[in-house]
Amino acid sequence: MSGGTYVIAGGSSGIGLELVRQLTPTATRIDVWSREARNLGPGGVVRYAACDFSAVDGPLPELPDEISGAVYCPGTITLRSFRSLQPADFRQDFELNLIGAVRFLQACQSRLQGIDGQPASVVLFSTIAVSQGLPMHASVAASKGAVEGLVRSLAAEWAPKIRVNAIAPALTDTPLAGRLLSSPEKREAMAVRYPLKRIGGAADMAAMARFLLSAESSWMTGQVLGVDGGMSTLRV
Ligand SMILES: NC(=O)c1ccc[n+]([C@@H]2O[C@H](COP(=O)([O-])OP(=O)(O)OC[C@H]3O[C@@H](n4cnc5c(N)ncnc54)[C@H](OP(=O)(O)O)[C@@H]3O)[C@@H](O)[C@H]2O)c1
Repeated sequence: MSGGTYVIAGGSSGIGLELVRQLTPTATRIDVWSREARNLGPGGVVRYAACDFSAVDGPLPELPDEISGAVYCPGTITLRSFRSLQPADFRQDFELNLIGAVRFLQACQSRLQGIDGQPASVVLFSTIAVSQGLPMHASVAASKGAVEGLVRSLAAEWAPKIRVNAIAPALTDTPLAGRLLSSPEKREAMAVRYPLKRIGGAADMAAMARFLLSAESSWMTGQVLGVDGGMSTLRV
């Protein structure tokens, strides 16, 4: 995958940061947006702009004139019982997971332009908790379910010029999941639940995102791909 201009919302941590690292050697330009620059290295093809998707209707940063790939990473993993969740918690999850993605894509839409005759590519993030009923996931599963609906609708509306796909991760070792993986015992207890006997890494998800951005996936759109150690489909 050579060249390409990418905008990665949430590219300063976890999966998004790893994707920035994987794209950097070949990209022409990568715009990264998040609330803080965090672990982002200096300069090169990467340009950082501060932005908060939880601030409703706040201004978004300037975009490149042409965008070959747009990725929206900000998201939540709110794990609480339904009894303890307030309507405000559902609204908060919905705001960051769905409305943030909508604002991001509406800003990018007119500039999405593929290179070398290929469609442009959009990648969003869902969760395994949409296809698998998991306790304590009501709020995040509801908002990510909406993301999956958005993916299929937009993929239809934007074909053939723009492809739209999503990744549905299971537990992945990033700062977002830090509380669930805060001791060797917790990590081991989580790992054994997966058919492949480990939790995911940011590199597993970033590799799938990079594939979905590349021409190698040029006949794929409207898909939600489980990268989950086999958990969504296997019983072993
Ligand atoms: N990690 C998992 O186990 C897991 C499992 C299932 C699904 N997912 C999904 O995968 C995606 C990536 O997650 P991750 O684990 O890589 O998370 P992460 O390490 O927390 O990274 C999230 C990125 O989004 C940015 N961000 C968060 N809130 C933002 C806001 N309000 N406005 C602008 N930027 C914001 C963060 O930077 P700032 O904080 O500086 O803004 C950071 O760059 C998410 O959509 C998540 O729901 C993750």
